[in-house]
This record gives sequence, structure tokens and C-alpha cells, in this order.
Amino acid sequence: MSTCASIEPPCPIAVIGAGTMGHGIAQVAAVAGFTVHLTDTRAEALNTARTRIADNLSGALQRGKLSREDADAALRRITTSPDLRAAVQTARLIIEAVVEDIGVKRAIFAAIGGLAPADAIVATNTSALSIASIAEAAREPARVVGMHFFNPVHIMKLVEIVAHTNADSECVSAAADFAQQLGKTPIVVRDSPGFASSRLGVTLGLEAMRMVQEGVASAKDIDTAMELGYGHPMGPLRVSDLVGLDVRLHIAEYLHRELKAPHFEPPRILREKVAKGELGKKSGRGFYDWSS
Ligand code: NAI
Repeated sequence: MSTCASIEPPCPIAVIGAGTMGHGIAQVAAVAGFTVHLTDTRAEALNTARTRIADNLSGALQRGKLSREDADAALRRITTSPDLRAAVQTARLIIEAVVEDIGVKRAIFAAIGGLAPADAIVATNTSALSIASIAEAAREPARVVGMHFFNPVHIMKLVEIVAHTNADSECVSAAADFAQQLGKTPIVVRDSPGFASSRLGVTLGLEAMRMVQEGVASAKDIDTAMELGYGHPMGPLRVSDLVGLDVRLHIAEYLHRELKAPHFEPPRILREKVAKGELGKKSGRGFYDWSS
């Protein structure tokens, strides 16, 4: 088995799942010069992904961030196909970004084993699932890493590289190096519930909700405390409204169950808001009124 040499443009990479995250990952990889094979079981997801990527690139063109030649070249580097074999058969790095369902992800990792080069690195963009449990389904579990991108991918700079206990350290380094080539800043995190970003971000969000519940201050003033007092670009309650309070509740329940720490117990105010359908921006109301 060859070790993971670094992955450099124009070497082929595959992105599985062409939704919110997959199209963004394909875009930034193509802009960085990689040959990208984007696959999805739904043909319409592939068409939508192409349109979204073209729109994002023309936005970058208009803002002077990209030349017309570079935008056109990036689009030409992306091939879309519903055929998993065609997407992964030459790939050096495969990034899975399908629905957050352990069964679906494990089935894909098992299938990749019979289709991709033996020395490919296989990454998952899961935001919460255990990397080790996904890796178990792979032909080479040591070559599986977490690569947790943030939404929107073409804007957010952070990538959490998640290393499970038996991960090959060269694959972990190669994944971090790849993220850097996309203009991202990687951090390396041990495979543990919530990784680094969700564990800390959710802690802050839940404590802010408890403070609203106790009448310590208004949502706006708590957010202002973190924005002006600590330099956060956005306060934790506004972030929670944008993520969706149902999503936040789900993650808090998961972290509470897995880490058994009392501070992850979802506060009453969060449960009540979700029960009333106040889910944040997407429903028009959460800790803020988003209707106007
Ligand atoms: P999405 O629902 O927008 O896209 C998922 C895509 O996967 C769909 O187009 C679907 O057709 C496709 N798909 C489903 N089963 C498939 C299969 N067997 N083979 C190929 N394609 C398949 O989901 P989204 O939001 O892009 O999330 C993808 C992953 O990224 C999830 O694991 C999620 O937890 C993670 N994530 C999501 C973030 C977000 O803000 N949306 C942020 C960070 C990570």
C-alpha cells in the first residue's frame, strides 16, 4: 500500500453528494485547479449544483475576485455524473457530502472500496457523526478522515480535519494540506462528539438561551456582549436562529447523550420555542423576529 503523498492540482478528486455542501466543495476545489468529479444519485441535484456554481463564480467575477478565464476554467474542470464508479475510479481524494444518515454514508464507504484506487483518501463532511463508525465500513479504515467544511463553503475559511484513533497520520496531514490549497484554514481535531466547533459553539448558544430564560438580559444585549466585548462577528443567539433552533436542539440532545455533561441539557426555552414552531430565521421567529 502506497502512503498518502500530498494531493496537488490538477489531480482528480471526487465529491459525492451535490447539495448545499457538495456543490460548494466542488467549486472551491475546481477554482484551486483540481479536476473534480461531482456525483449525486439525483440528476436534478447535479443540474442545480452546476447552476449554483456558475452563479457563484459569476458573482466572484463581478466582485473582481476572479477573472473570466479562471471562472470558465474552473467550470470546465467539473464533471458531473450520477455514476459513482465514474466519479471515484481515478480519484486521489474522495469527499462524501451526502445526507447526514449513518446507514447511507456507510453504504457509500463500502461501495467506494470496490471502485476507487486503493490508495485514495476518503473523507466525510459529516457535521456530527462518529468518523470511526463511518470508517469501519471502508476497505481501508485508516485512510478515512473527517473533513468538516462550513456553509457557505466558498466563503467560510474553517475546515475541521477529524482524526479517528486508527487514522493514518499521513492521510490526516494530506487532508489538512488539501484544505490549505483551497484557501482554507484547517484545524485537526480528535474524533469526539461535536468535534471542536459544534461542542464549543453549542455550549455558548445554550448558555445564552439559559440567560434569556432567567431574564439576565435580552437576546440582543447578550449577543452585543459577545460581539463588542469578545469580538465575535455574530452573537450566539443570532447564530442559533440562523442555524435553526430545531437543528440546535437536535445537536444539544446528541451531545448531552454522548458527553453526559449537564451544560448540554437543552434549556426549557429552547424546547418551548421548537414546540411552538419558532425555529429561527427559516420560520420567521426564534430569539429574534425575522418576519420583516
Ligand atoms: P443536502 O441535503 O443539501 O445534500 C445532500 C445530497 O446528497 C442530495 O443532493 C442528495 O441527493 C445526495 N445523496 C443522498 N444519498 C446519496 C447517495 N447514496 N449517493 C449520492 N448522493 C446522495 O445536504 P447538505 O446540507 O449538503 O449536507 C451534506 C453533509 O454535510 C451532511 O453530512 C451534513 O451534516 C454536512 N454538513 C452540512 C452543513 C450545512 O450547513 N448544510 C455544514 C457542515 C456539514
